[in-house]
Amino acid sequence: MHISKLLLIFPAFLIGLSDAHPLTPYRTFEALPSAPRGWEEVSDKTVDLATPIKLRIHLVQQNVPQFEKALLDMSTPGHSSYGNHMSQDQIDDILRPHESTTAAVKSWLESQGFSDSLSFKNDWIVVSTTIGKAESLLQTKYKVFRNSETGKNVVRTLSYSVPQGLHSSVDLIQPTTLFGSTSAMKSTILKVEDPSVLKSSFASKVKLGGVDAACQSSITPECLANLYKYKDYKPVLSKNKLGVNGFLEQYAQNDDLSKFLKKYIPNAKNVTFACTPINGGKCTQHPSEDFTEANLDIQYTVSASNPIPNIYYSTAGRPPVIDLDPNTNEPYLEWLEYMLNLSDEEMPQTITTSYGDNEHTVPQSYAIKVCNMIGQLGARGVSVLFSSGDSGPGDDCTSKDGKKRFVPTFPATCPFVTSVGGTVGVEPEKAVSFSSGGFSNYFARPDYQSSAVDSYLSSQADATTYKNYYNASGRAFPDISAQGSRFHVFVGGYDQLVSGTSASSPAFAAVISLVNNDRICKGKKPLGFLNPWLYTTAIQSKGIVDITSGTSRGCSGSIPGAGWKATTGWDPVTGLGTPDFSVLKDL
Ligand SMILES: *[C@@H]1O[C@H](CO)[C@@H](O)[C@H](O)[C@H]1NC(C)=O
Ligand SMILES: *[C@@H]1O[C@H](CO)[C@@H](O)[C@H](O)[C@H]1NC(C)=O
Ligand SMILES: *[C@@H]1O[C@H](CO)[C@@H](O)[C@H](O)[C@H]1NC(C)=O
Repeated sequence: MHISKLLLIFPAFLIGLSDAHPLTPYRTFEALPSAPRGWEEVSDKTVDLATPIKLRIHLVQQNVPQFEKALLDMSTPGHSSYGNHMSQDQIDDILRPHESTTAAVKSWLESQGFSDSLSFKNDWIVVSTTIGKAESLLQTKYKVFRNSETGKNVVRTLSYSVPQGLHSSVDLIQPTTLFGSTSAMKSTILKVEDPSVLKSSFASKVKLGGVDAACQSSITPECLANLYKYKDYKPVLSKNKLGVNGFLEQYAQNDDLSKFLKKYIPNAKNVTFACTPINGGKCTQHPSEDFTEANLDIQYTVSASNPIPNIYYSTAGRPPVIDLDPNTNEPYLEWLEYMLNLSDEEMPQTITTSYGDNEHTVPQSYAIKVCNMIGQLGARGVSVLFSSGDSGPGDDCTSKDGKKRFVPTFPATCPFVTSVGGTVGVEPEKAVSFSSGGFSNYFARPDYQSSAVDSYLSSQADATTYKNYYNASGRAFPDISAQGSRFHVFVGGYDQLVSGTSASSPAFAAVISLVNNDRICKGKKPLGFLNPWLYTTAIQSKGIVDITSGTSRGCSGSIPGAGWKATTGWDPVTGLGTPDFSVLKDL
C-alpha cells in the first residue's frame, strides 16, 4: 500500500522502479509437461484453499561461475590455490544474493500483502500462507496427485508464474513442482540374501592376487583391505572424521555393528559411532528391525577407518509427503543447510551417501540448487561421495516425455559429487551388471573429465550403438567404483549378504578417509573435492586401477540388450576404476 502512495507522489520513481523490476506481466517460471511418471492427478479431490503452506523462495546467488572456478582451482593439483579451502563466511560473501535481488522479491511480496521472513543467510525467504493465497501469488492452481505405487496423495502444481521482472532474482519456489519419484528417493540397495546361498568351497587359504579366494563370492572387511591395499595402514586419531548419511528412517545399530566387528575383525575394539539427528531425524536403537542400508554403510565405514570417528547423520523427511500436507519435506536441502552451518572442527572431511533418484524426476532448478550446495561442501574441504545407482543404463529407460532414453541418477550426476559405481570379483575385478552410469541431461560435462570421456566416446562401439539414448554433452558418471556385490552385513542380529552400489560408496569413502587421515597427520590439507585430482594425478600414478571387463544391464527389455561395457580408461560402468590405497596415500 505505502509503495503505491509513494509512487503517486514521485512518479519519476515509479518509472525507475518499474523499469528495474516490473511486477507485471507474470510469466511462467517453471512448468512440467505432465506429472512425473508414477503420479496421476486425482480429479475428484479438491484442495482446501485454507490449508497452511510454507513457501520457500530461493534467491539467485551472485558470482556462481566465479565460485565454481575457485572450487575447481583449489581442487586441481598443481594449481597455485590447490588445497586453499574456504571458510563458510568466505563462501557466503561470494555467493550472497545481491541486496537489490532481496529487495525486489520482498517488495513484490509486500505489494501482494504477504509478510515474509528472511533465512539466516539471506539466501531464501519463507512465506507462511495458505494454499489459496499462494495460488494468487504464483498465478497457479494446486491439485491433488496420487502416487500409483504407494497410493499416497500430495498437493502440487505443474506450473507457476512469477512477474517477469523477478525471473532473474528467483531460482526456485517450493513446494510447487517437486514430486519425488515413484519410490521417492531410493536407497541404492539392490538385493539382500541369506549367506546359505554361498557354496562354502573356499575353506582352504587359496589366494587370488594376494586376496583370499572367498572374496570372489562374498565380501568382508578383510577382502576390501587386501584388495584396495590398506590392510597395513593404521589410522591414528586426529581431527579427521568420516560422515555417513542416513535418510528414509534408516537408523544404524550399535548392536549389529558390535556383532559384525566381533565376527569379521576379531582384534578390533568394540568401537562405535556418533549419531547426529537433523531436522527431527532420529538416532533410534532398535536392533531387531531391518535397517539394512544404515547397517551396511556404518559397518563398512567403521570397520575400515576405526579409530577415525564416524558420524551417522540421520535426516528426517521423505518425499512424497504423506496425504494432503502440501509442505515439502525434502531431505537434501535440510541436510545441506545443516552441514554448511557446521564449524570447521565439526565438519567431516569425507561423506558417503547411498541414496539417489532418477534425474528426470527432480526439477532441474532443484537439482542445480542441491548441486551448488554440495559444491560449497567441496570448497570447505569435504569429499562428497554418492553411490551411482543400481539400474545400469537406466531402470525402465523412459524419459519424462515418454521417449526411450537411458535414465541417469541424481545426485550422482552433480559435477561436484564423486559418483561411485560397482564391481564384483577379485581376479579379475569386473564391472557388476547393476552398476549405474551414463550421462546427465541437466549438467554439462565439466572440464576435468572431458578428455577421459571424449576418448571413451570416440573409441567405443557402445557410444555409437546407443547414441540416440543418451546425451553426449552431459556430465558423465560414475567417476570411480568399488566392490558392490554380496557384502556380509549384520542386520537385526543376523549375517546377511547385501548387494548394490550402496556398498560401493562407503567402501570407497573409507579409503578416501584413510588418505585424509594420513594427510592430516602429516600436517597437510584434506583432499576436498576429489574429481579434478582423480582424473589427473590419481589415474596417472595408477592410484586408481582400471577395470576393463564386465558389462552393465538395464532398461527391462525396452531397449533390447541395453548395457555399457567396461573398457580401458573411463567407462560409464566403473568410471576410472577402483582404488589402490598404497599409491593414493603417497600422492
Ligand atoms: C559394544 O558396545 C555397544 C555400545 O556401547 C554395546 O551395546 C555392546 O553390548 C558392546 N558389545 C560388546 C561385545 O562388548
Ligand atoms: C547454525 O549454527 C549456530 C551455532 O552452532 C546455531 O545457533 C544456529 O541455530 C544454526 N542455524 C541453523 C539454520 O541451523
Ligand atoms: C543435454 O545436456 C545438456 C547439458 O549438457 C542440456 O543443456 C540439454 O538440454 C540436454 N539435452 C536433453 C535432450 O536432455
